[in-house]
Amino acid sequence: MIIQNLTELNRFRKELEHLYYKHTLILNSIAEGVCGIDQHQNIVFWNPAAERMTGYKAEEVIGKTSHAIIHHTKKDGTPYSFGECPIDRAIHDGKTYHICEDIFWKKDGTYFPVSYTVTPILENGAVVGGVLTFTDITEKQKTEEFIRTSEKLSVAGQLAAGIAHEIRNPLTAIKGFIQLLQSELDEKKPYLHIIESEIQRIELILGELLVLAKPQATKFTKSDIGVLLQHVTTLLETQGILHNIQIITKTDPSLPLIECDENGLKQVFINFLKNAMEAMKNGGHIFIEAQKKDEHSVLIRFIDEGCGIPKEHLEKIGNPFFTTKEKGTGLGMMISKKIIEDHGGTMSIMSEVNKGTTIEVILPIRVSASPVLHTSSSSHLHA
Ligand SMILES: Nc1ncnc2c1ncn2[C@@H]1O[C@H](COP(=O)(O)OP(=O)(O)O)[C@@H](O)[C@H]1O
Ligand SMILES: [Mg+2]
Repeated sequence: MIIQNLTELNRFRKELEHLYYKHTLILNSIAEGVCGIDQHQNIVFWNPAAERMTGYKAEEVIGKTSHAIIHHTKKDGTPYSFGECPIDRAIHDGKTYHICEDIFWKKDGTYFPVSYTVTPILENGAVVGGVLTFTDITEKQKTEEFIRTSEKLSVAGQLAAGIAHEIRNPLTAIKGFIQLLQSELDEKKPYLHIIESEIQRIELILGELLVLAKPQATKFTKSDIGVLLQHVTTLLETQGILHNIQIITKTDPSLPLIECDENGLKQVFINFLKNAMEAMKNGGHIFIEAQKKDEHSVLIRFIDEGCGIPKEHLEKIGNPFFTTKEKGTGLGMMISKKIIEDHGGTMSIMSEVNKGTTIEVILPIRVSASPVLHTSSSSHLHA
């Protein structure tokens, strides 16, 4: 009888162990943070995902209140007033609370955005504890923000296209009339020339704006990099002058035509110039140099006198969303790198803090003729 009971007991123990093993496996492998608390809000369970998100190991938090560990204050440092904290309330009134957006504190003193659910555990109608499940929503927030900016940019692009067209039509009329008048107003000719050349400049800028505003299909043609650089510079020159920045372009006259997607490269060069200008809060010079490197490739350099890039940031540049600017998107360098790689080219960054940054681009003259270059996908970063 005793022996039979013992066997039974062993079977029960095995089943219980198996059940425990299964549950632990599930809780350990899910991506959500899971925190079990008792009725006094002391932590009794803390899964590996919670460890990863907060930096606290289970043994550091078991027995402490969830409040003290992750939810002691709001984002701005102010404490929760009585009855305001959803974890308190779930334990108090036995209801489930879901919070879409809040913050939890980490061991290192920083916080991360979370969405979380607190579910009370009831036994015979009384609350004996609760389960807090939470998800880090940093990436979700970034994606939402990215979509918002893309939308904003595309609206700005559409507007720019409309405005450009509207200015272009009256400009054409004015230009025509000036040409008509030119023969009659001989003595005023110098003024007319000025007006005409100014109008030409506006036309050029509007043309550039239209190209940028419209999403363009990638098209490879033989192009003059010097002219391309000139157009891009025209677009940004005025903004440069406003910030006391002078753009100086030096193009080798023997520069060969290269096979490229003009609009793609323009986007790259605009990104580099904008970054250079944004790095030069106190003004200065931006030098653009373009020359033939060898039989197969050309070399283009963007040299600025800006704030420079610290070593620890260098390797992160080009990662999506890496930005040091309050209103930056961290997408410019990533997109530029991709476009250069699509040309079979390479990009390298050399920088010295407080001195300036040089971006060096090597592009093959003929894309198809140098298939080997296509494999050099990673950009070389130098300090
Ligand atoms: N010429 C430069 N001088 C200094 N920092 C630069 C330069 N170019 C890029 N960076 C750094 O690289 C980051 C990423 O640039 P980018 O991808 O264009 O995004 P964003 O300009 O929106 O920040 C910038 O935030 C900046 O810290
Ligand atoms: Mg940028």
